[in-house]
Amino acid sequence: MKYRKLYNSTLKLSEIGLGCASYWGKKHFSEQKAIDVVHCAIDGGINYFDTGHSYSGGYAEIRLGKALRGKVCSNQLIISSKVGTRLGHFGRLYKDFSAPWIKRCCEQSLRQLQTEHLPIFFLHGPNPQDFNDEVYQVLDELKQSGKVGLLGVNSFDDDIIDLAVKSSQFQTLMVDYNILTPHRLKTLDLLDNNGVNVMVAGAIAGGLYDRRFKKIKGMKSIWYWLRALKNNKTLMRKAQQFDFLNNQSSATAIQLALAYVLSNQQFCSALIGTTSVVHLEEILQTDISHLSAELLSQIESAQVLTC
Ligand SMILES: NC(=O)c1ccc[n+]([C@@H]2O[C@H](COP(=O)([O-])OP(=O)(O)OC[C@H]3O[C@@H](n4cnc5c(N)ncnc54)[C@H](OP(=O)(O)O)[C@@H]3O)[C@@H](O)[C@H]2O)c1
Repeated sequence: MKYRKLYNSTLKLSEIGLGCASYWGKKHFSEQKAIDVVHCAIDGGINYFDTGHSYSGGYAEIRLGKALRGKVCSNQLIISSKVGTRLGHFGRLYKDFSAPWIKRCCEQSLRQLQTEHLPIFFLHGPNPQDFNDEVYQVLDELKQSGKVGLLGVNSFDDDIIDLAVKSSQFQTLMVDYNILTPHRLKTLDLLDNNGVNVMVAGAIAGGLYDRRFKKIKGMKSIWYWLRALKNNKTLMRKAQQFDFLNNQSSATAIQLALAYVLSNQQFCSALIGTTSVVHLEEILQTDISHLSAELLSQIESAQVLTC
């Protein structure tokens, strides 16, 4: 595992991070299997774990807290969580970036994660009006009290990313960058030039281009399919142009797509999500030297076609 340094911080993050979200944290998915994935990640050198207060119906933080409890190295692990997307009745999500909720949510997150300090704390999908003095003040209070470390914004919206940079209040941004979103290279440039640390969300693009994704085997694959249909129809269409990734003998499609992302140095950690130790082990064996010049040029041609 390689580690990347952050700007203006002593933290060093594994270049692959584990996203503790979605199916991994669902109540009906085996807690033991989810914990096994976290332990496999730690054994493989991953030291960065991302989650969110509203992820997996509110269970993800609790599960990650249990997985890390008693791990001797847990104080060396870097956890990020997110505030501002709140669970309402019947699991409906709504936005709340009010100062009292930010404070209360942070305290709940710390309790659920069984820790006293969150090294990275993101605003989860804020709107323009959420960049205001009240929010900055409560974030500053949480920072001064040692409850959180770096402050961040998680957004895939260009205008919000610009606002976050211009505010100068945030040291970290979480944006979507993967083989299907090459336009994000401009964003990575902008953030790097401004000394903002970047975490990459969805680094393997849900595995949409991997032929295994199309094989429906039970509840979990149906759930992933429905999620992609609901949120990522455009990416699903784009993914068809990347089918050639499945024909390489050097590596699997997922490994090549991740190798493509990891070859960029303008971010700190690329987050992947999985519910499977076998899949995680495959990911941990990603080797960027498998990305030949010929393959890179094929990828770039497919990206032009899907622009
Ligand atoms: N995507 C977003 O909108 C978003 C937003 C904010 C933050 N994030 C952060 O980014 C993290 C990752 O994003 P994500 O969870 O959306 O999805 P992702 O990592 O892009 O993809 C997860 C999908 O890839 C499959 N997969 C993983 N490894 C595989 C392998 N080796 N072989 C075959 N399939 C494999 C998983 O299935 P299995 O479970 O079967 O392995 C799952 O279907 C999140 O957990 C979160 O921390 C994402």
